[in-house]
Amino acid sequence: MHRFVKNAGMKAVTLTLALSAAAVAQMPVSHSTVAPTLAQTPPMGWNSWNHFAGKVTQQDVMDAADAMVKSGMRDAGYVYVNIDDTWEGERDAQGVLHTNSKFPDMKALGEYIHARGLKFGIYSSPGATTCAKYAASLGHEQQDADLYASWGVDYLKYDLCSFGTNMREAQAAHPEDLEFANRMMRQSYVTMRAALDKTGRPIVLSLCQYGWDNVWAWGAAVGGNLWRTTGDIRDSYDRMAELGFGQAGLSKYAGPGHWNDPDMLEVGNGKMNADEYRTHMSLWALLAAPLIAGNDLSKMTDETKGILMNRAVIAIDQDSLGKEGDRVRAEGPQEVWSRPLAGGGLAVGLFNRGGWNQPMSVSLKELGVKKAREIVNVWTGEKVVAKDGSVTAVVPKHGVVLLRITE
Ligand code: GLA
Repeated sequence: MHRFVKNAGMKAVTLTLALSAAAVAQMPVSHSTVAPTLAQTPPMGWNSWNHFAGKVTQQDVMDAADAMVKSGMRDAGYVYVNIDDTWEGERDAQGVLHTNSKFPDMKALGEYIHARGLKFGIYSSPGATTCAKYAASLGHEQQDADLYASWGVDYLKYDLCSFGTNMREAQAAHPEDLEFANRMMRQSYVTMRAALDKTGRPIVLSLCQYGWDNVWAWGAAVGGNLWRTTGDIRDSYDRMAELGFGQAGLSKYAGPGHWNDPDMLEVGNGKMNADEYRTHMSLWALLAAPLIAGNDLSKMTDETKGILMNRAVIAIDQDSLGKEGDRVRAEGPQEVWSRPLAGGGLAVGLFNRGGWNQPMSVSLKELGVKKAREIVNVWTGEKVVAKDGSVTAVVPKHGVVLLRITE
């Protein structure tokens, strides 16, 4: 049985179908030997969208690269400098895509980024246009991949958007074949993966289609290194919590080279308080989520820097075992999540989604820990002592107590 959700106009229709093994086998798959070697830990970097959106310029991206070095972010592990939508111009008579006036020289920008020991990311769509209605890659996949490689691109975010319309139209023309649009979507990723590989540059492929058709179940098979599991994040506690806590149950699909992506970080954008941003960062670390900062790196408060660059939290996100964490328990506004770590031991988050401070407890037994050699409160660095086999802490409203337990 294969269960999936399709978008039929405004209405989401859930279908349960018995698919023969043969039908599933016909789903397009990538034979890339490159993809599995990339992104062995969740990608870390910065992306222009959350803060600059459609206003981003080449200078903003250069400033972000400089700030990434100066602030210490690069040394903390953030390496990708990714331009999101709105860099694109027109195609010429040969079909070669040009930048618009906001990005006068992409090759120089790539060199600028690389000269700082950083990597360069770009954005397109498998459709004819991007979400912001700029030119995208449909029918020009190899040409675009070659162009990116000539600029020194190391990472492509490939955002479905207008291709959803192509899919809906094609599906309507093939009503008897309920998997038509899904095969089309998967083929679009296989095609771009092959085009990227053909350039000879190892380019990370980030799928962005908001979690349609349970992408986590097949994102790696089509050559994706990460895939968005959700719609867009916003700089609000409610939206961040909806996306982050909504990841329960997806851990088994992630691993080295292929990660669930609950969207980019909003830390430092100003609409959440420090407890809420610590929740965001802690949850993303437990989820082995890509840590792609989305704030203005050239204007960071010490508080923002402290959250984005907390080495102990980053170490959890980047843990070499590469196992995503999952929910242990949810009771009312209290959630306990844990993530197994390399060398034994685990990271544990006690999250308070309520609007008031409250004590929370977790027993080592519940976490499957036989003997805790050491327990550290990750954000404060303090040692924690288990009493009668349990850890108890007061967790601030919308906040977290993140623990690292060594067995
Ligand atoms: C979609 C994506 C966002 C961003 C915008 C750009 O909404 O999900 O992350 O890339 O498009 O237009």
